[in-house]
Amino acid sequence: MGYYDHKRNVEKYVAMMSGFDNSALIEAVFNHLPAGKSMLELGMGAGLDFALLKKAYTATGSDSSKAFLDAYRKKDPSASLLRLDAAKIETDQIFDYIYSNKVLIHLTYEALTASFKNQTARLTSGGLVFHTFWYGTGSNHFNGLLFNNHTPEEIANISAPWFTPVCDVRYTEMDPDDSFYIVLKKK
Ligand SMILES: C[S@@+](CC[C@H](N)C(=O)[O-])C[C@H]1O[C@@H](n2cnc3c(N)ncnc32)[C@H](O)[C@@H]1O
Repeated sequence: MGYYDHKRNVEKYVAMMSGFDNSALIEAVFNHLPAGKSMLELGMGAGLDFALLKKAYTATGSDSSKAFLDAYRKKDPSASLLRLDAAKIETDQIFDYIYSNKVLIHLTYEALTASFKNQTARLTSGGLVFHTFWYGTGSNHFNGLLFNNHTPEEIANISAPWFTPVCDVRYTEMDPDDSFYIVLKKK
């Protein structure tokens, strides 16, 4: 059992995120990924982003934690949700876009590589992905979770067999320029 498989930890995270305003990042998503298409979100957590994304896209939310999915389903019983590991992405469904916000940071280098390979298999031709990461180098462990820092160059290199970089942008989540998003197009 991982940290987010425990209902108590999920409730703590949902409470911590309550009132968090992520609308600037979601505006960036809207600017890069035209509305009206299908989207899979990996690692939706409390579902704050998902609630905004589903207004513009035919969105499916997912997480590896059943506790997060159960919590979101209580708020929105008709939401399309899947229990998915972001590295394996075991579903038959195909999407125009894949989105994640500070989720792929939890994957080892091998799992991150597998994730990009599996994302490409779940995308339509010319499909786009939009992912956020903490900017930097190195990694640490907290609450038994792996947290990796990355650079856009590193992500472009890891995903290069399957994706062409469209753009990457630094932004601030907690400290100045501590984060970046990257948009990649399926080759
Ligand atoms: C830091 S939280 C971010 C949640 C949400 N994206 C947000 O921005 O608030 C990380 C999320 O990734 C999920 N997660 C971690 N490892 C995962 C994996 N291998 N596959 C799918 N989800 C994972 C966790 O359950 C949690 O919901």
